[in-house]
Formats: sequence, structure tokens, C-alpha cells
Amino acid sequence: MNKANIKGKWALVTGASRGIGKQVCLGLAKHGCNVVLHSRDISHTSELAKELESHGVQTRQIAADLGNSEQVSKMVAELSTGPNIDIVYNNAAIMTQYCSDWLNVPSEDLRVSFEVNVTALMKICHAFIPGMVDRGWGRIINVTSGIADQPELIAYAVSKAAVDKFVLDSVGKLEGTGVLMNLLDPGWLRTDLGGPNAPNSVESVLPGALVPALIEDGTSGKLFRAQDYAGTEI
Ligand SMILES: NC(=O)c1ccc[n+]([C@@H]2O[C@H](COP(=O)([O-])OP(=O)(O)OC[C@H]3O[C@@H](n4cnc5c(N)ncnc54)[C@H](OP(=O)(O)O)[C@@H]3O)[C@@H](O)[C@H]2O)c1
Repeated sequence: MNKANIKGKWALVTGASRGIGKQVCLGLAKHGCNVVLHSRDISHTSELAKELESHGVQTRQIAADLGNSEQVSKMVAELSTGPNIDIVYNNAAIMTQYCSDWLNVPSEDLRVSFEVNVTALMKICHAFIPGMVDRGWGRIINVTSGIADQPELIAYAVSKAAVDKFVLDSVGKLEGTGVLMNLLDPGWLRTDLGGPNAPNSVESVLPGALVPALIEDGTSGKLFRAQDYAGTEI
């Protein structure tokens, strides 16, 4: 792979406090990339910020509930006053309760899943794309899921399908701009969201999760599967 040099660039990672987002932050820092750590409360990322800084990178921390559109707007506005964001990992997401009564999935589950997993994600993309296009370089990685055939988790599943559709329908606008937008399927991992029965450790998301941030070959609108790279060097 022809690798981009991301040393000194700034990445925004949503849902940085634990699980996959935390691994992505650690991976980016090892490549010298500065990181904006997002979660719902700055106290959730303070330890990680110190750890990343010990790798010699700079960090910023920002809090916003992605289910609250005012907080998302405030976050985006606050970030526009800081260093330019070159890389965005839209990683934060929620999965509503498993609904055994699959014909009665609450509408509220759909509403909140779309608010956090789709609307906030799109708003973040729309906010940072213009600056990336102006500067001629950007990487947007939207985290999706391979979930299938589980109508008990349909609110989550359809929200991820909407993320896929958003990416596929938008990438044409980015052609030739130097801004690449792709999808990342981390695989089923043992995290708070993935649960204890998942077959893969959270660490196995690296190095694959970094591939869409490091590519220089113009690929956009592609699904990267982190598990395809597990145990390899990139
Ligand atoms: N784990 C899997 O097996 C798996 C499989 C396929 C796809 N994925 C996807 O991978 C991504 C990360 O999943 P994960 O397993 O790492 O999840 P996780 O361990 O549950 O972590 C979720 C992260 O999102 C943040 N978050 C949750 N609700 C939020 C909200 N309303 N507003 C803002 N931030 C919020 C959390 O921050 P706080 O500290 O504020 O709680 C936390 O940092 C998600 O997009 C998920 O759909 C995961």
C-alpha cells in the first residue's frame, strides 16, 4: 500500500473513550497523528489523552451527545476554531436493546438510532468536507456494521444501512478533490456494544481500521473490513 504520511495531521475520532474508537486513537497516535477525542463527557477521555500525549502527539477533547443536534452543532462550531481536521472517524454509535418481539420494535428505537448513528454522522461529514476540499486532502471513515438477518436489532441495522447509502451516494461529489470517504466494518468485537460473546478482541481492529486513513490510491466509497488485516503489518 502506498501510505499517506499522517504525522502532524489532526483526526477527529467520535466515540474515542472506549472500544473501537480508543484503539483507532492509539493507532493514529503511533503514526504521529494528533487527535481530537470525542465522547459525551471529557472525563471519559482524559486518561486516554495523557496516554496519547506520551506518544508525542497533541490532543484536544470535546464532549457532545450525538443524540442532541444542538450539541452536535456546538461541537462542530468549536472545532472549526481549532486546528484543521484532516481525518474524521465517525465511530460513535448506539445499538438499542435486542427486541425479541421483532414485530414490535419501538419507534423510539428507530428515532434515537437515526439521530445518533446517521443524522449526527452526516452533519459531521457535511461540516468538515468543505475545508478538506479547499485544502485538497481529507479522509473520512464512517464506521458501519456487517449485521445481517437480525430483525430484533433492526433499528441499529437500518441506521447502518443508511450510513452505507449516505457514503455511496455522496462520493461522486468528492471525485478529484483529494478527499476520500469510505466505510469501515470493524468485525464483531468484544466491546460494550459488541458484548462478551464476540469472537474478536477489540485490539484486532488494528491495523485494519487505519487503512482507510492511510490510503493514497484514490479509493472512495469502498467498504474496508478491519478483520482482513488482523495480525498483519500495513
Ligand atoms: N463492537 C462490535 O462488534 C461492532 C461491530 C460492527 C460495528 N461496530 C461499530 O463500531 C463503532 C464503535 O463501536 P464500539 O463497539 O466500540 O462501541 P462502544 O464500546 O459501545 O463505544 C461507544 C462509543 O460511542 C460513544 N457514544 C455512545 N453513545 C453516544 C452518544 N449518544 N453521543 C456521543 N457519543 C456516544 C461512547 O462515548 P461515552 O464515553 O460518552 O459513552 C463510546 O466512546 C460503532 O459505530 C459500532 O456500530 C461495532
